[in-house]
Amino acid sequence: MCGIVGYVGPRKAVPILMEGLKRLEYRGYDSAGIALQEPNGLLHEKFAGKISVLDEHLAGRTFDSVCGIAHTRWATHGEPNDTNAHPHTDCHGKIAVVHNGIIENYRALRELLGNKGHRLTTDTDTEVIAHLVEEYYEGNLVEAVRTALSQVEGTYGIAVLSQDSPDEIVVARNGSPLVVGAGDNENLDASDVSALLQHTKQVIYLNDHELAVVTPDGISVSTLENVQVTPKIEEISWSLGQIEKSGYPYFMPKEIPEQPTTIRMATRGRLNHDAGTARLNGIAMNLDELNRINRVIITACGTSWHAALIGEHLLEDVARIPVEVEYASEFRYRSPIVPKDTIVIAISQSGETADTLAAVREAKLKGATVLGIVNVVGSTIARETDAGVYIHAGPEIGVASTKAFTSQITVLALITLLLGRQRNLSLETGRNLIHDLESIPEKAEQILDKTDEIRKLAEEYSKHDNFLYLGRGINFPVALEGALKLKEISYIHAEGYPAAEMKHGPIALIDENMPVVVIALKDAIYDKVVNNIQEIKARRGRVIAIVTEGDEQVCRLADHCIETPHVPGPLTPLLSILPLQLLAYHMAVIRGCNVDQPRNLAKSVTVE
Ligand code: G6P
Repeated sequence: MCGIVGYVGPRKAVPILMEGLKRLEYRGYDSAGIALQEPNGLLHEKFAGKISVLDEHLAGRTFDSVCGIAHTRWATHGEPNDTNAHPHTDCHGKIAVVHNGIIENYRALRELLGNKGHRLTTDTDTEVIAHLVEEYYEGNLVEAVRTALSQVEGTYGIAVLSQDSPDEIVVARNGSPLVVGAGDNENLDASDVSALLQHTKQVIYLNDHELAVVTPDGISVSTLENVQVTPKIEEISWSLGQIEKSGYPYFMPKEIPEQPTTIRMATRGRLNHDAGTARLNGIAMNLDELNRINRVIITACGTSWHAALIGEHLLEDVARIPVEVEYASEFRYRSPIVPKDTIVIAISQSGETADTLAAVREAKLKGATVLGIVNVVGSTIARETDAGVYIHAGPEIGVASTKAFTSQITVLALITLLLGRQRNLSLETGRNLIHDLESIPEKAEQILDKTDEIRKLAEEYSKHDNFLYLGRGINFPVALEGALKLKEISYIHAEGYPAAEMKHGPIALIDENMPVVVIALKDAIYDKVVNNIQEIKARRGRVIAIVTEGDEQVCRLADHCIETPHVPGPLTPLLSILPLQLLAYHMAVIRGCNVDQPRNLAKSVTVE
């Protein structure tokens, strides 16, 4: 989604802002722009398309600015063209605003501003902010922004420049992330720490209803009501290397092989071998409350929702706690019943997904204790939940989530251990689960080594436009996730189904042109899945099977087999998803797709 970066200090602003924008590319966008405090006034340039288009327009020109803001826009109000790109300016081009979020009352504000003689020229909601600031400007930019924002309903992370305050950026947040980076005699701001990392690791995460005045030698934070705030400076733990491709053609093929490491990181320091349980400091203070839980609701979106479905199996099968999984976008609007003995778990890689955040707020409103399973430290969901567990997967830049998914499952397994051992889970079963969890990274390596084999398979199937993915039990969500990966990055239509449901509809689609990916591991329902494969073969469907090592029966039936090492029941998704991620990746590359930035998708969906 939209990205913001701002710089003020002694250095030339353009290279810093352009580099920052490139770091934000992964979020998804369709236009880009920049506003600069040039010696002869405010200059702004903005264009539809990739950042490279903006880059081309700036190339060969000299800019003296040491203060500026820049933006990548993901269109919500108004099509992605040059006019609607950010920054937006007031009537005289002296005030420039970049904005993430949605101004809900923009129509009323447009009318109001129009009646006062302002000329609004774009289709966006954002433009009203620039004109409101102009309307209230009486020589003090921060006061004008404060008054303007008091008129605004909706969500925003904004950065504002005024020609009359050449070394000052005013930023504010309500519902869209805004981080200020503290440097030496220079300060920055951004919607995402990855844009700051090259320059500083010291950051201040603004809270909702806060604004900051950022100058080369100071960051002053206050509330919208003008109460001074003492900012908390935090250190970013990510390294620059983690947000760079480091020789890989895309981030996705860098992130998929990281999974043996990231799964280990999710368990590091959290396994109590003696007691056969997990040690989770983030939720330790709520142990009493955890003891009283009789029901769990897990809410999330996208890939995180698939992890939630796997969490449902883990918590119900192993810890014997009833679980309900709900799309966050549905949960927030259907007045959910959240009894006192229920805990709500929100899963979000970014910690910023608007629907998941709204679900967290709804659950809290209903009096629930809400736990977060989040990757990005300091993100809004991490801060708004009562307690939680970071997955520590490091930055995930590829839009299609891979390593975050397996880390989320790992953390759900740890929560299962903790809650299970507080109940009836035996010491032996707890220890066995820990043992199995520790065996995953090495087994994952063995699957990742098959990337060439899977690429050849992808070459054979890359011309197909429809795929079916089947799985049962805990591997049904893996089928959903495998299908999602394929459609997200290769634009092939793919559907995930519980294998037995195939005969209630999808079987009508099966013929020699329909590849069916079946997860057919040696588990309790293996025989049933074998029957499903027979049904597909009887209709001349082509089967790609994900099997347990040495499974001759399925390999005889299927057209292709990808063998995976054996791991007992509830942890199989940590391995079975890996070949499906690789398959989706190779298919997308062969089809010439932009793997990291699929069309229309955003890494972090911060609007409804
Ligand atoms: C977007 C991303 C998905 C992600 C989903 C939820 O749709 O493209 O990859 O799974 O948001 O994101 P979250 O950050 O809340 O896990």
